[in-house]
Amino acid sequence: MENIIEVKNLAKVFGNQSALEDVNFQVKKGETFGFLGPSGSGKTTTIKILTGQLLQTSGDAEVFGVKNTALNTAAYRKRIGVLSDNSGLYQRLSIEENLKLYCDLYDVPRKRMEEVLDLVNLSGERKKVVSKLSKGMTQRVLLARTLLHEPDLLFLDEPTSALDPANSKQIHDGLRLLNEKGTTIFLTTHDMSEAETLCNRVAFLNKGKIQLLDEPKTLRRQFADGSVRLELKNGQIISLPGGAEGADEVYKYMSNNEIVSIHSNEPTLGDIFVEITGRELV
Ligand SMILES: Nc1ncnc2c1ncn2[C@@H]1O[C@H](COP(=O)(O)OP(=O)(O)OP(=O)(O)O)[C@@H](O)[C@H]1O
Ligand SMILES: [Mg+2]
Repeated sequence: MENIIEVKNLAKVFGNQSALEDVNFQVKKGETFGFLGPSGSGKTTTIKILTGQLLQTSGDAEVFGVKNTALNTAAYRKRIGVLSDNSGLYQRLSIEENLKLYCDLYDVPRKRMEEVLDLVNLSGERKKVVSKLSKGMTQRVLLARTLLHEPDLLFLDEPTSALDPANSKQIHDGLRLLNEKGTTIFLTTHDMSEAETLCNRVAFLNKGKIQLLDEPKTLRRQFADGSVRLELKNGQIISLPGGAEGADEVYKYMSNNEIVSIHSNEPTLGDIFVEITGRELV
């Protein structure tokens, strides 16, 4: 499958502080790739390098087969969408006025605005002035703006960090739909459940280094200890080892008709991150 992003031995040093060190990964066409890491691990720095906003200290990064150092062209900007926290919205204009300006700038038909407003759940709020919006609403306007020109590749830097669960879900559904239609998504997050629901593959970034990279389900299986969790009718939760060792006990509870549910104890991506790095994902 075609690689949309290729990163080789990427490093970034700020002054005497290393932000990225020997980072290697590829993002395939059509996938949602998650870059997971705690605050300060180098997620935004990576996006800035990949979108031509920042130069690496060493190593190579290519997007659409073009070196990142040569990416600052109008043709490239039309193919990508970047959502980051540096706002750039016109504070005194309404949501709708802001989006109309971008439609004109990108030569996008105005009806596209309706689609993106629906996608971010803001159709009913379109007349509101941006300076009066909540943080989560502002973030959704930014996402709407990022999607207006239907980019092939989306860079989303913590797209739901300011959103409540209902709006996060709405955005997740929208992103899944976009991805199904062929948009490649590079997403940074420290929300492991977001990564788990959206990403085909995830990279764990810690202190500027990738420590693990795979599909979430492969990682969960790889780090599962085989144990099972039983919920009993009396409310008790019991964890038992897998295999023959636990089987006798499971049989006992089962034959006594005491079991409400049985689940394999699969670790979450957050559990795995802690195990690998010794750090929480916050
Ligand atoms: N312009 C800069 N000048 C100096 N140091 C920087 C600069 N930008 C980032 N850094 C440093 O590089 C490291 C990685 O920062 P980065 O913003 O990439 O982290 P992040 O993973 O995006 O964190 P967060 O989750 O908080 O957004 C941090 O130690 C940060 O202080
Ligand atoms: Mg960041």
